[in-house]
Amino acid sequence: MMNFEWNTAMSATMVRTCSLKTEQPVWLDEFSDEWEHPFLIIDSEVRRLWDNLLQPVIISASGLYVMEAREVLKNTFTLSQIWDSMSAAGIHRDTPVAVIGGGLVCDIGAMAASTYLRGLRLMIVPTTLLCMVDACLGGKTGVNLASAKNQVGTFNPAEKILIATDFLDTLPDREFRSGIAEIIKTALIGDRSIQGLLERMDIENPDKNSILEIIRKCLEVKGGIAALDLRETGKRMLLNLGHTIGHALESASEFQLSHGEAVGLGLLGEAAIAVSLGGNRKLPGEIRRMLKQAGLPTDLNDLASGEELSLLFKRDKKTRRDGRIWVLPFDWCDCRLTHFTPDQEEKVLPFVLNLLKA
Ligand SMILES: NC(=O)c1ccc[n+]([C@@H]2O[C@H](COP(=O)([O-])OP(=O)(O)OC[C@H]3O[C@@H](n4cnc5c(N)ncnc54)[C@H](O)[C@@H]3O)[C@@H](O)[C@H]2O)c1
Repeated sequence: MMNFEWNTAMSATMVRTCSLKTEQPVWLDEFSDEWEHPFLIIDSEVRRLWDNLLQPVIISASGLYVMEAREVLKNTFTLSQIWDSMSAAGIHRDTPVAVIGGGLVCDIGAMAASTYLRGLRLMIVPTTLLCMVDACLGGKTGVNLASAKNQVGTFNPAEKILIATDFLDTLPDREFRSGIAEIIKTALIGDRSIQGLLERMDIENPDKNSILEIIRKCLEVKGGIAALDLRETGKRMLLNLGHTIGHALESASEFQLSHGEAVGLGLLGEAAIAVSLGGNRKLPGEIRRMLKQAGLPTDLNDLASGEELSLLFKRDKKTRRDGRIWVLPFDWCDCRLTHFTPDQEEKVLPFVLNLLKA
């Protein structure tokens, strides 16, 4: 069991765990009292695979929106469809919203909850490893624009997060591995003991207790940082480790790379840059070994050409004439916010590409 409260100056989030394999009422209890009759937003795959479990919640819901988890659908059009569906269901300001799915559906569902009627109470039920260890906590919501990921969004921490690792039983291998990239990221940022837990975990047949322990540690690291800087004006940027390169790779590959796979490569590239500035020389090798052990990609193959990547970085630079802040892992638990001018980025890019094409 892992029940704790995550507090920021503006909000309180209750994080609870729940087994889906015990008597059904245990799960249903989570939808009682102030969480009764929620408006539900559910990942279509989760709906299909967990229909029996979800049925009682769906039957008593105030309304339902089922969404396919595809990045191209995480946009303002889908968001307005969710709003329309909330309006058609006639929900009120006291209707809670429960979002059940991975990071994608949670991002857009939480955004719908934070904007419809100027904000409704929100429960998140993460169903992917990535969402359990990272996306469910911290309050970032968002949708993509054609030009870039997560360009429009809000900060809106859920009031309740319900973690049921049983959902991982149906998660495809590739998605499970994707979550491990975010775990490696979190270990690098703030808790090296997670590295040992990962090394001892049998990836093919993971034990639920060790997964729960890893989730707890990851949420502690993320929660500790995000609580001090909810709106990401400073220290919270550390949580973007791996994402500057990762987001560019994800877009350049036209989402053939999953979010976690791209972040894993981003960790490797950003560690190499840190080495060029005096960081621990062993770190890129250690990250590569952990990615390999998790079955995550460690090179780019043909997913994105050097030209495509250069273009993506250049396009981004136009909107940031002064350059931008990168997060560079100089060592375990020593990640530093580092400002690069556009010219400096230009010099860094070939370095990253060489490493990732190796
Ligand atoms: N808000 C944040 O802090 C934050 C942090 C990290 C990532 N994100 C966002 O999260 C998204 C990625 O999330 P993700 O990695 O969880 O993937 P996802 O939500 O895209 O889901 C991946 C796939 O797994 C399926 N799926 C989900 N749960 C399942 C289950 N239990 N069994 C079988 N299939 C299941 C989905 O239908 C989908 O096909 C990205 O859009 C990213 O931007 C947000």
